[in-house]
Amino acid sequence: MCKSSGTREQRGEVPASVDVDVVERRPPEDKDRVDRESLLHGERSALGAKVLTLCSAKVSLLAAGSMTLNGVLLGVLLVLLTKQPVAVSAPLDATSALDECHGHGIRFADAEGCTCFDCWTGATCYEPLPLDAAECVVQAGSGTPFLFEEYWVAHPEAAIEITPFNHVGYGADVPRLERAIRAVHRLVGNAEVDGRHIVIGVGSTEMINAALFALSQSPPADGAAPPEATIWAERPYYSGYILPSTFFESRSFHWRGNATPPTPTAAAPVIELVTSPNNPDGALRSPRLAEYDHATAIMDHAYLWPHFTATPETPISYGSERVALFTLSKATGHAATRIGWAITPDADLAARLQQFVGLIGGSLPRESALRASVILEHVTASRGEVFGFARERLLSRWERLQALFEQQAAFRLQRLEPLALDAFTGEEAYPPSPAYAWIERLDGGDALASMAGVGIAARSGLGYGASAAYVRLELLMREPDFVTLLAKLQRLLLPA
Ligand SMILES: Cc1ncc(COP(=O)(O)O)c(C=O)c1O
Repeated sequence: MCKSSGTREQRGEVPASVDVDVVERRPPEDKDRVDRESLLHGERSALGAKVLTLCSAKVSLLAAGSMTLNGVLLGVLLVLLTKQPVAVSAPLDATSALDECHGHGIRFADAEGCTCFDCWTGATCYEPLPLDAAECVVQAGSGTPFLFEEYWVAHPEAAIEITPFNHVGYGADVPRLERAIRAVHRLVGNAEVDGRHIVIGVGSTEMINAALFALSQSPPADGAAPPEATIWAERPYYSGYILPSTFFESRSFHWRGNATPPTPTAAAPVIELVTSPNNPDGALRSPRLAEYDHATAIMDHAYLWPHFTATPETPISYGSERVALFTLSKATGHAATRIGWAITPDADLAARLQQFVGLIGGSLPRESALRASVILEHVTASRGEVFGFARERLLSRWERLQALFEQQAAFRLQRLEPLALDAFTGEEAYPPSPAYAWIERLDGGDALASMAGVGIAARSGLGYGASAAYVRLELLMREPDFVTLLAKLQRLLLPA
């Protein structure tokens, strides 16, 4: 019998049960694979972990099977009601994409073969690489949210097929996407959207750039030309702020990533970049320069979603001195769809944000906008089911990670924010489950080098305004990759 989430089995709270059909597909001499998993959980729970991975695939298969019929009926109904074609062939594609690669890889529709998960190899990803092989490297250095892939494999109904006549012309309006964004914020309660302008761009990356230009070009009250602004962020800051602040050598602003904040004045205003929850350490932040007249803030809420942190009691609501940013990539995992948005109550600011988006790309790609609309409509219709999925996975990862770090004294994992009331679920003691582990090497040595030494690709603290004794590990990978990451961390932290 398979559990849909697997988390309890993985923690060893319930006996791991074996699905005969699934297990029999594995060769009995598959020792390397067993070794890798038992390294972490011991023999019994290693079985649980295997069952978890396999069960997920099986649950997906079952879900997909039953959805095929439902999907066809739903598709016909939707076509009749909306005249909008809906892909109904997706369920089979989605499950075979994993099955073809033995559950250790995935074949995307536009690829010729399998993309193997970390430390698996071969045309169909059947061969495990030895954990200490030079080619066995776990990718924990990006923020690519593959965590969500499994959820979407099980939910192929959230697909859209776009007929060739649809929107061949130019056009900036994406009312369906705007409606879908507002609906998701109303469902979660993480941002006030009533009476607010929403400006949508190509990912949050574009909206960070747009917000820098829009805020730095706000005309001062006396009508004079806007002075050059200083861009500042508290350390450790998201490394992705430096290039947008420096690359174009704009006369409107310059970057200053000092440890001490600059003092905002009329002649030298400051735009503060505030990431909350923070990347890399998950800390909840508010602007350090809030009390100054000549300070504005870009509030980057990429991680303000229920799978990472408690939803505040009242939706965040800012005046015209702040711009709130959100992104689809960290909400649902659709990073490649490249949709991010800004929320502001200020019509002039919204117009400047829109002007920047128009300048860079003309307008938003329609296909991305439609895909994002359908994904977000699914999120609202399912009352945020994907958040529950990602949350369970991340909580389980944090438990395993913390248990490992507690057994050693050479490295320190960041201390997480205290438990808090979560307004979305109503849970009173909601533990945070951030997207990244922020780790300090306590002897002051190069933490990135330590990770590299055991085949973990990570990001040095240096890029975040911290020292080389810190390293950031991404936790948004696929479950099998996370298991391999833990095995490698165990080698580093608890050497035999
Ligand atoms: C804090 C923060 N802001 C913005 C982004 C960029 O998001 P997007 O993928 O929408 O460009 C990221 C991506 O990791 C991020 O961590």
